[in-house]
Amino acid sequence: LSDAEFVVVANRLPVDLEKLPDGTQRWKRSPGGLVTALEPMLRSREGAWVGWPGLADAEVEPLVEDGLQLHPVMLSSQDVEEYYEGFSNGTLWPLYHDVVAPPAFHRHWWQSYVRVNQRFAEVVADVAAKGATVWVQDYQLQLLPAALRELRPDLRIGFFLHIPFPPTELFMQLPWRTRIVEGLLGADLVGFHTPGGARNFRWLATRLAGASPGHGRTEVVVDGRPVKLGAYPISIDSANLDRLSRTPEVLERAKQIRSDLGDPERVVLGVDRLDYTKGIDVRLRAFEELLVEGRIDSEDTVMIQLATPSRERVEHYQKMRNDIEQSVGRINGEYARVGHPAVHYLHQALPREELAAFFVAADVMLVTPLRDGMNLVAKEYVACRHDNGGALVLSEFAGAAIELKDAILVNPHDTDGVKNALHAALTLDPDEGRRRMRAMRRQVMGHDVDRWARSFLDALGLPPPEGSHS
Ligand code: G6P
Repeated sequence: LSDAEFVVVANRLPVDLEKLPDGTQRWKRSPGGLVTALEPMLRSREGAWVGWPGLADAEVEPLVEDGLQLHPVMLSSQDVEEYYEGFSNGTLWPLYHDVVAPPAFHRHWWQSYVRVNQRFAEVVADVAAKGATVWVQDYQLQLLPAALRELRPDLRIGFFLHIPFPPTELFMQLPWRTRIVEGLLGADLVGFHTPGGARNFRWLATRLAGASPGHGRTEVVVDGRPVKLGAYPISIDSANLDRLSRTPEVLERAKQIRSDLGDPERVVLGVDRLDYTKGIDVRLRAFEELLVEGRIDSEDTVMIQLATPSRERVEHYQKMRNDIEQSVGRINGEYARVGHPAVHYLHQALPREELAAFFVAADVMLVTPLRDGMNLVAKEYVACRHDNGGALVLSEFAGAAIELKDAILVNPHDTDGVKNALHAALTLDPDEGRRRMRAMRRQVMGHDVDRWARSFLDALGLPPPEGSHS
């Protein structure tokens, strides 16, 4: 183990440690798009992944799982409360998502964030070979690039932010704003989803951290060292999902879902982590008002909302879950018949095959976040529609809206706008629908997560793995 030439660091490992009722522990694989995209690179370069195994107070040794070196970073229950639930998800998450919920600024949360980032830096410094490349992921680890450079100036360090980088006025509220900017500037390359994010960061780097302009708009210079900035919109493993959605099992399951629903004319779908940034309440309101006004009928149009449980101990999440469940109850109280709910709501994490079947089964996909870094669900829906069917209603405030211009774009703060967009999607001319879906599929199939990783690592100066054709 260790002496890795390529190290990925993220708050979470690509596997979760689970505690069983009998007290024993076991690993559960959570194969995200990121690990799929980075696997060739990790394997060909004796790569390692550093992250938290997802359980507080667990003692685990480094392990090799499916040929990948995994280096766990332990978090105590206090770290989980202050660094993860507190500063990461009670301060940064709402602040970076346009303060759609009020961020809390607590000094002890900040101190824990500093401590845990330092601990991650120490583990990476131990694991990385001389001159290795380290790729740091996301908002939980923004101090890591500078902390790591301090310990290991020989490393090449990239950072990618998976959530939006906020407008400068909002970022300036953060009492520790300068430390965060300096933390990120420890990297050689800082990547964002959108050019706007890179622009905001550049402004802050010059105002707060004394960075000066470098070559063009994509570079700043700090202490004589160039730091590249850029936009790298993330994507999904499009070809695999497309393949999965064509399998007889998924197609059969999609039919089954529609027949379980009573073969309605139209199925409207939402799929999200249960998060207040996702605008689930907005779309329920739009659906309800269309029913109230008689513009749609629950006899022939049903809605399904799949919500993956998330961050359940954080206050805003608890409140939002209650609100959503109340809305679902109210709508069904008014419009359901026995055995035929108007809104089907599942608070569960579903396997990938099952999700693909839901995407295939849905006539309209509603993706209405108030703010979202990218939103991969929108791209997953498109990748599953090999029949060029279905319609996507997409928030203008999701990063994906920049690429998926042929979706029906909406402002999620405008309830009438969302209602009209949903209605338009339900009554879309089939030829027009296919034209739009074809255009979106060209985009999604041509820009997959592999291409994203490749372009980031190219900019960081890491050559592709030997024998790679990408
Ligand atoms: C977002 C973040 C990720 C995070 C994921 C799940 O996509 O950008 O960094 O891992 O949500 O959230 P969780 O808090 O469960 O890791």
